[in-house]
Amino acid sequence: MDWTREQRYRKIEEVSPEEISNLKNKVNLCPWRQTFHIQPETGLLNDPNGFSYYNGEYHLFYQWFPLGPVHGLKYWYHTKSKNLVHWENVGIGITPGDEFDSHGAYSGSAIEHNDKLYLIYTGNTRDEQWIRHPYQCMAIMNQQGEISKKLDKPIIADVPAGYTDHYRDPKVSKSGDTFYLVIGAQRDNKTGCVVLYSSADLMTWEFEGEIKTKLDSFGYMWECPDYFELQDQGVLIFSPQGLEPEGDKFHNIYQSGYVLGAKLDLQSRVLQHGDFIELDRGFDFYAPQTMIDPEERRILVGWMGLPDIEYPTDRNEWAHCLTLPRQLFIRDGKLVQQPVKELQALRKYKYEAEAALFNETKMVDGFKGTTYELICEFEQADAAAFGIEFRASNEEKTVIKYDVSQKKVILDRTLSGEEVGAAYGTTRSCSLEADRIKFHLFVDSSSVEIFVNDGIEVFTSRIFPSQDSKDIRFFVTEGSVNFKTVKWDY
Ligand code: FRU
Repeated sequence: MDWTREQRYRKIEEVSPEEISNLKNKVNLCPWRQTFHIQPETGLLNDPNGFSYYNGEYHLFYQWFPLGPVHGLKYWYHTKSKNLVHWENVGIGITPGDEFDSHGAYSGSAIEHNDKLYLIYTGNTRDEQWIRHPYQCMAIMNQQGEISKKLDKPIIADVPAGYTDHYRDPKVSKSGDTFYLVIGAQRDNKTGCVVLYSSADLMTWEFEGEIKTKLDSFGYMWECPDYFELQDQGVLIFSPQGLEPEGDKFHNIYQSGYVLGAKLDLQSRVLQHGDFIELDRGFDFYAPQTMIDPEERRILVGWMGLPDIEYPTDRNEWAHCLTLPRQLFIRDGKLVQQPVKELQALRKYKYEAEAALFNETKMVDGFKGTTYELICEFEQADAAAFGIEFRASNEEKTVIKYDVSQKKVILDRTLSGEEVGAAYGTTRSCSLEADRIKFHLFVDSSSVEIFVNDGIEVFTSRIFPSQDSKDIRFFVTEGSVNFKTVKWDY
């Protein structure tokens, strides 16, 4: 269906209860509804927003267009959790449609201050000529969970000279007594960058200027920036658009990654850093956001999806989900991601096995399913390749493997089931030098997240297999390998 502008900018408040319940019925008939991921009740989810810990709970909002699987008038939908595992759907957090967010409450972030949670987001507006005017807006949540928008004026009303109307996604943080915002921007010369603001009170903001990186001409827009410090280093995450594929890198429609180096010099705004590294090697990952929790953990959640691609769930009037929360560490000059330990609460029946494989593909008792966690360690390989086929049947399989001669990890969704984004290829790979390979998989009805060697690489992907594709098979080609595995049903 082609959506008209009018349909995309309809407000959910103006839609009849029957229409909503019809939408929900269609959604609930979808065989690919997730079981342990945050997903929208109807419509389209995109970026995680306002990820924070406040008043004894984790809060995680997301970009939401309620009325179908397209990008339209965006709301902030609110979810919360006590343990990062079980999330309660709270309801709409920020409703767009006022003077400074008439065409969407776009992405943003949250910070606690004076016992309240301050939400800072981009108000997207369009004028009669459909020209975009972005405003940085504020809403405040109190301890009762009531959210009120600051309607009198935006906290940042103007785009400074030198930048286009692509100016959005404020991420707030605090250093000493000063609050900072990083905002994703496009320069007049159509290159992407990040700008910095400072404030003493969250209300009045001073434009400091651009963060100076070595990436002067690296895509046409940088979305969803996030700057933080971890293990005494500075990390800048952002989602650049407009990069060309390069070897194994940058094959998704848009990218998402980070640079790592010295802490940002707040006076000169110089960020000394290494290469840009993709956060995820899979097919569906974008616009992540991090927060720091009471245990001082830096935790990241991403959007398990990408803009401008059709997904098979569209037919059932919904699209996308969020990734599992991952704790970040720095190891060997790279960000490492590990599923938060609380996820162990999902583990039910446990199955274990170990074996030596020789030129074969092997099934093991109890190793089957559509929603589970699986850890498999391979060692002493004298082979061309080894790995795991999962969500498999006679016709379908998703494959994660290690190619020993190329020293590459490869995810193959050529036969995963219904196609998605096939124009961008059906395999993803990255180099990894290692003698032992550990794959840690979280498999849900229509996704997989694979943490390789304790998170030094991660592959996040949607897959759309039939419900009967349940097999798990361990294989080795042209030689032998030993493996040890454990699986928990969810
Ligand atoms: C990233 C993004 C953001 C924007 C939001 C709108 O996916 O385009 O830059 O704020 O989505 O939904």
